[in-house]
Amino acid sequence: MKTKIIKINPEKLEISKVKIAAETLRKGGLVAFPTETVYGLGADALNSEAIKKIFEAKGRPIDNPLIVHIADKKEVYRLAREVPREAEKLINKFWPGPLTIILKKSNIVSDIITAGLDSVAIRMPNNKIALTLIKKSKVPIVAPSANLSGKPSPTMAEHVIQDLYGKIEIIIDGGETDIGVESTVLDLTTNPPTLLRPGGVDLEKLKKVLGKIKIYPMVKGKQIKKIAVKSPGMKYRHYAPNAKVILVEGKYERVKNKIQELTDKYKKKGKKIAIMTTNKNYNYKTGVIKFIGKDCDVIAKNLFKTFREFDKEKVDLIIAEGVSDNGLGLAVMNRLRKASYKIICI
Ligand code: TXA
Ligand code: MG
Repeated sequence: MKTKIIKINPEKLEISKVKIAAETLRKGGLVAFPTETVYGLGADALNSEAIKKIFEAKGRPIDNPLIVHIADKKEVYRLAREVPREAEKLINKFWPGPLTIILKKSNIVSDIITAGLDSVAIRMPNNKIALTLIKKSKVPIVAPSANLSGKPSPTMAEHVIQDLYGKIEIIIDGGETDIGVESTVLDLTTNPPTLLRPGGVDLEKLKKVLGKIKIYPMVKGKQIKKIAVKSPGMKYRHYAPNAKVILVEGKYERVKNKIQELTDKYKKKGKKIAIMTTNKNYNYKTGVIKFIGKDCDVIAKNLFKTFREFDKEKVDLIIAEGVSDNGLGLAVMNRLRKASYKIICI
């Protein structure tokens, strides 16, 4: 398939270009587009044949459900059969924005979207191109992140091209995404609500609106294979670059020394090592070293991009410093832990 790349400047949005992409979606085609979190791979949520093509293009297991993206808050009442008061509060406060809510699904939501679950994930992205595309297509749009399954999510069109060129109809290039990690996924079918995936809206802000929130065990830990999986996407190895990732968590001084020790050890074995640091004045002596930011929002923005840059440099091993679990840090640590094959806490 020939993939068309359409460059759109979000500041000077050309409606005619968006309309071409919307028309493709209406005809059952796949369009990758930017959101404020990461790039999504969109299909018409009311067209099961189109949705099946998403799973094929990404190599995504069919038991992993998709998020339905909308451009008008009222659409929630069509997609969900119950919209509790808490959901309305969250919608008013955080939409459009990086929060996905899980509600009991209505009949128009097909089983292929929800992987047979009785619930549906819904979000309204805060990105002009995404919102205009959804509006012009006149249907809700399902969109997982626009990467090959298991790879780091794309934060630039270039990443989508690397993974999906030749497999989908259109890639909209709308520049780098703002946040860099995916939306927060919150299940409102449980009481209290359950945080299934930390993301762009941090837990502290949600707690201010809702009070108590349960945290799903896998949010903080690594993959747990044997427990019942509530958010099926969580059970797969994820966000992973080609190189193996080792995460080192703990007090900075100790982390630093451990990383230096690991670097020396693997270098002796002839491995090409990369280090991801959050300290501008690092004093690591060997390896491909990248400073990915000091504050969590900057780290979040750079995380997936840096994984892909290391892959380009063909490193064998990436050693990452852990960050604090506060704010967006929880989302960053969740992605790092899921990408790692080894986590060292010292
Ligand atoms: O920021 C984002 O959310 C991006 C952009 C493109 O919007 N999308 C995204 O989609 O990250 P995806 O498919 O990569 O991740 C969706 C997550 C998965 O972990 C999936 O298992 C979970 O949401 N999910 C979807 N529907 C669900 C449901 N009914 N119940 C529980 N989890 C659900
Ligand atoms: Mg994804």
